[in-house]
Amino acid sequence: MKDVLPQDPDQGRIRQSFRRGLESYHRNASVQAQIAARLAQMLQDQGAPGQFRAVLEFGCGTGHLTGELLQRFETDSLLLNDLVPEAALLLKNLRHTPAQARFEAGPVEGLALPQDLDLVASASTVQWIAGLPALMARLAAHLKPGGWLALSGFGRSQFRELAALGSDAAAPAYLDAEEWPAVLPDGVEILAIEQQPVELEFETALALLKHLRQTGVNGQARQNWSRRCLQDFESAYRARFGRDGKLPLTYDPVLLIARKTW
Ligand SMILES: C[S@@+](CC[C@H](N)C(=O)[O-])C[C@H]1O[C@@H](n2cnc3c(N)ncnc32)[C@H](O)[C@@H]1O
Repeated sequence: MKDVLPQDPDQGRIRQSFRRGLESYHRNASVQAQIAARLAQMLQDQGAPGQFRAVLEFGCGTGHLTGELLQRFETDSLLLNDLVPEAALLLKNLRHTPAQARFEAGPVEGLALPQDLDLVASASTVQWIAGLPALMARLAAHLKPGGWLALSGFGRSQFRELAALGSDAAAPAYLDAEEWPAVLPDGVEILAIEQQPVELEFETALALLKHLRQTGVNGQARQNWSRRCLQDFESAYRARFGRDGKLPLTYDPVLLIARKTW
C-alpha cells in the first residue's frame, strides 16, 4: 500500500480549508451531494435493515450523507464526527434527529469509538486519511458481526487536470475501486463498489479555483495566485484540456458497501 499513502496530510491545513469553506460548501459541493445520495441508495439496495441501533458517520461536514441516511434509515444512536468543530452545527439542522445524537470534533483516527456499531458511514472523506488500512481495521473491530460499512472516496483520476498541471492540491489517499479490497481487513466483504468519473465545466480558471476554495477540497494546496500565475495556469489548462471554450474538472468518486462477516 506504500504508493497509496505518499505523505501524512497536514490536518491543520485541511481543517482550515474546510472550515473556511463550510458555509459555501453545502451549496457548492454538488458532486459530493450526488455521491451521498447514491451511497445511501446503494446501502438500501444491498439490503441494509430499515433500523440501525448505533451508527457512526465520520467526516460528516455539513451533512449531505447524514441527511440522506436519516431519510432512509432509522437509528437509535448516531455519533457524528468531523475534523472541523463548527460542523457540530449540523446537529441543529437535522430533520429526523435520532433519540441519541452527538458530535465529536477531531480526526477520526483518534476518536474514541463505541463498541457494537452496526453502521459506519462516510462520504468524500477517506481520501484525506493517510493511515487508511489501520483506520479500517479499527473501525471493523468496533462493528458488530454483520455490521455495515458505507464509504466513498476518490480514485486516482480525481482532479487529473490539476495533477497534470503540477498542482499540489491532491489529497493523500486516492484509491481506485480495485485497490479497496487490500485496504479493508480480513473479515470485511465488499458487496458493491462503483467508480464513475463526473466532469464539471468552468468558464474560467478563476471560477474553477473559486469552486475548489468554496468546497474546501484543495486542502493541501500551498500556492498563492498572482495575476501572472493565474494567467499562465489558465493558458496551460486551456491548451491541454480546454473544450468548447470551457475548462473541465474531473471528479473520480469511488463508492462501496461492505459487511463484516465474522
Ligand atoms: C469533502 S468533505 C465531505 C463532507 C460530507 N461527508 C459530504 O459528503 O458532503 C470532507 C470532510 O472530511 C473532514 N475530514 C477530513 N479529514 C478528516 C479526519 N481525519 N477526520 C475527520 N474528518 C475529516 C473535513 O473536515 C470535511 O468536512
